[in-house]
Amino acid sequence: MTGGDDTDDAAPTASTPVERAHAALASLRVEGDSSASTADAPASTAPAVAVAPGRVNLVGGHTDYNDGLCLPMAVDRHVAVAARPRSDDRLRVRAADFDETAELAPDDDPDGWAAYVAAVARVLREDDPIGGADLAIASDVPTGAGLSSSAALELSVGRALLAVAGRDRPAADLALACWRAEREGVGVECGILDQFSAALCEADSALFLDCRSRETESVPLGDGVGVLVIDTGVSHELTESGYNDRVRECEAALDRLRERADRDLDSLRDVDRALLDAHADALDPVHYRRVRHVVTENERVRRARDALVAGDLDRVGDAMLAAHDSLRDDYEVSCPELDAAVELAAETPGVYGARMTGGGFGGSAVALVDGDALDQAARAIRAAAPERVGPDADVFACRPSAGVRLVGER
Ligand code: GLA
Repeated sequence: MTGGDDTDDAAPTASTPVERAHAALASLRVEGDSSASTADAPASTAPAVAVAPGRVNLVGGHTDYNDGLCLPMAVDRHVAVAARPRSDDRLRVRAADFDETAELAPDDDPDGWAAYVAAVARVLREDDPIGGADLAIASDVPTGAGLSSSAALELSVGRALLAVAGRDRPAADLALACWRAEREGVGVECGILDQFSAALCEADSALFLDCRSRETESVPLGDGVGVLVIDTGVSHELTESGYNDRVRECEAALDRLRERADRDLDSLRDVDRALLDAHADALDPVHYRRVRHVVTENERVRRARDALVAGDLDRVGDAMLAAHDSLRDDYEVSCPELDAAVELAAETPGVYGARMTGGGFGGSAVALVDGDALDQAARAIRAAAPERVGPDADVFACRPSAGVRLVGER
């Protein structure tokens, strides 16, 4: 990775991620052309620009790597990637928000944000002739906030690299490639939730996602519903957290249940309450609680999906609150700041329910709110958050947004 010494200082200031990615790419000089930026480059090198959203997960925490069910929603915050082809096989990547530039040969294995870019390119190159590219990245998805900024980065980079190479892939295939990139390239043993959310969510809808069959169903959220994110300001870092420990605990519990059950268990998805209770004595008490969370969380996702279809937002909210209790007590992935955020939201007029979202150990809570009460609820939570949640807490409303896409013309 190199410093930011190959950019023009005169890049215009711009505000949206797309504008900033455009500006950052324009400021990244075309090599061998000391006179000009891409603004003067031939039309054939006009940039491809892809955007991919962050997400909140309304219900269905830590079910994805157990082949379970989730109900996420993409938010209207995005990573934008502007890209143009190069004549060699290198990636030169400008991270506008960090003021950093990375130069990557195909076999490089960098750290930090560049690891995601390198990993996506490596996985895509297995099936598509992805050449070199100049990329510029800008984002308004907060990092470390549990809003899946890394999947948004992976999907937007993937879509942009494919576009530059003149290739295409169905969104679900791209999501799977990016999921492999995160697991193999970055070392988080995550499930498919984040990449599928960033790829397949639709505007104004939540996404009912079956992580076993990988089938999805868009469930409209309805006009009268608002969504608030309460970012605790406590940064979570999945690779350094107990996330992979939870994956191990689920595997160990599954192995033990397999020894006892009289039917095949492919994953914890195949475990129901009756089976769990019948073999509770065989499980270490901690493992018992981990499995109980997964089993009851899958039930809650079904309940929340049905309630959303029926327009019964109180029941969706109840499922969210119960999900938070379970994540806190049985799965033990919450933290005091997240608990405080959920409590604060739950006692605020107009809020149907709230829960931690993402991997946990910090990050954000999500609240489902009566649309008419949204502004007032946001103001009340924002006012109380510094004292109740933490000095760096941030509260913002978001709209259900669409998954990864190319913007503008090439
Ligand atoms: C992180 C992971 C996801 C999922 C959630 C918890 O966001 O990347 O795969 O496991 O945590 O639901």
